Amino acid sequence: MAVKFQQENRIFTLDTKHTSYRMKVDAYGFLLHLYYGGRVYGNMDYLLTCYDRGFSGNPWDVGNDRTYSLDALPQEYPVMGVGDFRNSALIVRNEDGSECCDLRYVGHEIKEGKYGLPGLPAVYDDAGEAQTLEITLEDRVSGLRVTLLYGVLEEADIITRSVILENRGSKHVTVGKAASACLDFVTGDFDLLSFYGRHTMERNLQRETLGHGTYAIGSRRGTSSHQYNPAVILADKNATEDAGSCYGMVFVYSGNFLCEAERDQYDQTRLLMGLQSDLFHYTLVQGEKLTIPETILCYSDQGFGLLSNRFHNCIREHLCRGKFQDAPRPVLLNSWEAAYFAFDGQKILKLARSTAALGIDMIVMDDGWFGKREDDNSGLGDWQVNEKKLGCTLRELIEKVNAEGVKFGIWIEPEMVSEDSGLYRKHPDWALRIPGREPVRGRNQLVLDFSRKDVRDSIFEQICKILDQGNIEYVKWDMNRSIVDVFSGKTMQGKVTYDYVLGVYDFLERLLQKYPDLLIEGCSGGGGRFDAGMLYYTPQIWCSDNTDALDRLRIQYGTSFFYPASAVCSHVSAVPNHQTGRSVGLHTRGVVAMAGAFGYELDPEKLTEEEKAAVGEQIKQYRKWEELIRRGRYHRLSDPFTAVYTAWMFVSEEKDRALLSVVMLEIHGNMSVSYVKLKGLDDTAVYRDTESGKRYYGADLMAAGLPMPVEQKEYPAYQIELIKE
Ligand code: GLA
Repeated sequence: MAVKFQQENRIFTLDTKHTSYRMKVDAYGFLLHLYYGGRVYGNMDYLLTCYDRGFSGNPWDVGNDRTYSLDALPQEYPVMGVGDFRNSALIVRNEDGSECCDLRYVGHEIKEGKYGLPGLPAVYDDAGEAQTLEITLEDRVSGLRVTLLYGVLEEADIITRSVILENRGSKHVTVGKAASACLDFVTGDFDLLSFYGRHTMERNLQRETLGHGTYAIGSRRGTSSHQYNPAVILADKNATEDAGSCYGMVFVYSGNFLCEAERDQYDQTRLLMGLQSDLFHYTLVQGEKLTIPETILCYSDQGFGLLSNRFHNCIREHLCRGKFQDAPRPVLLNSWEAAYFAFDGQKILKLARSTAALGIDMIVMDDGWFGKREDDNSGLGDWQVNEKKLGCTLRELIEKVNAEGVKFGIWIEPEMVSEDSGLYRKHPDWALRIPGREPVRGRNQLVLDFSRKDVRDSIFEQICKILDQGNIEYVKWDMNRSIVDVFSGKTMQGKVTYDYVLGVYDFLERLLQKYPDLLIEGCSGGGGRFDAGMLYYTPQIWCSDNTDALDRLRIQYGTSFFYPASAVCSHVSAVPNHQTGRSVGLHTRGVVAMAGAFGYELDPEKLTEEEKAAVGEQIKQYRKWEELIRRGRYHRLSDPFTAVYTAWMFVSEEKDRALLSVVMLEIHGNMSVSYVKLKGLDDTAVYRDTESGKRYYGADLMAAGLPMPVEQKEYPAYQIELIKE
């Protein structure tokens, strides 16, 4: 039993294989947090201390006991208005205008299986080994009921948290801020690792010392954003890649979020993850419920490497779904960087023919095939095939592509509308706009009000008509701007940003139900919505619009802290690179792209015969290693921001096969030799380098490293396959 409740002292114990979580309902009915971290055996309530703290108030019912203050005690779900002046997990405004909510324990239930969430993505456990704990708290005055949900995946060392708010009173309450997870630490000296970025340069690692005050990241852009990924690590000062304590929080949500880390006056730390409070005030009328999206929690006592590994397993095995969750992904060629908008049916067919010759499985026809769409200034919302441009119907084109032995995929951007489109002329009120104000444009397009079902239904119908036109096996779902004009013609204001995201999920769910064999790739100007929420619907996401191999090393490094390689779409593109102008050799580009779902983003016609042969070889290699890359344990071997080389490796579960990838980042005269230390091998096993035939003990490669060649060229890359003898 992973979840237990001790009636005599009202303590909850949650245990996974290597971690423990403890909380307690105290004498006043407050739910106090006791502990989260490595496996322990006691109740951990001895950690609670109470002292008379000046200017930290005392709840009414503790009487004269000035030592009891919610401002100092660790809590499980801290609220505004009861004397805790730190950041709140929940802020509600009552009908009378007061901002207060006093949550006390009402009851709990322990259930077999992992809870699901209505309309929202959530970790699942098909094996039925997980358990759910539901703790109910209530504010007596307003009747607001708060159900804290805990999912415990014992084997995976994962605990999930979500919250359901329900107005059981007679007056309305407005939720102004709501987190799904709070971790209070009574002691500790922490750093916060977050992943910031921008379009074409996502998820750069930043490690900051947590001082007194609040360190916050989040998004107000309507999507999880390129700028801050909704996932963080709280690490002991001395934690490294391979050692030390660290805690991870991954928000399973694709919209506005807020993550706050605070060190308080008593040197205690609070970490909160939840919905963004800006642009959000969700009014619950009598009987209405609101679900706060899930946060996945994980702890590692062996540094970031183990933490990442646990998140990878959880996301790959308990969050991604469908036919492609655990299936080889097609090697594809995307038409975007090959042709941009300048293609017709003949061009697509030509690309298909040349991809077939190279051994590529699929061609994806990117933006420009529909409505009036010769550039990115018009046409969004008109999901009718531009047959004039294609020179045939979509069905005919797909049939011709398929006849070449190539699968067909297509790009869509359902959430958007161009002002220059039939849809906008007919339904200008379907776009998010604030009455009386001109909207803010982004990429010269507006955002459709996906909080509205009627709007979604109409687009859904259009998209289905497209998908029904032929054998479309892949969809790239894009979203190419941030949301500004948060105002809906129908949805109650304050709910729009949240209902919008649920609308996107609803659309995706319906699409998957209707087309269960479809592989959907997520995308938002590359990695602007690279989050665990999307991965519930789209098992892979275009990692970045930046296809430069060297930049990708950094982007993929940051991405790897939480998300498995199976989720990372990575393509070889042409040189000089379209985003940076840099030229990196084809082999190196291939090595970098093989750290994920592999493909190409170039015109094969423009390759020399020699390059074509090399591409053919790359694809063969990729197929050989595909399963190892998709399912193997991923190890970061260096930090691309500081090291002379970037190295990573995949090791099979049985440790009988490994693939080491190394890219040299610097070149100097008379270079010193780089020794790359491997990880995750069997100490006493002998591994054979399949190319050189050289044999090594696992321990030797891990302790002393493998010397990399010194070559007089820029950015050489090496892939070394090791097989256990
Ligand atoms: C976004 C995507 C690109 C491409 C274009 C098409 O930027 O990230 O890959 O699909 O849109 O307009």
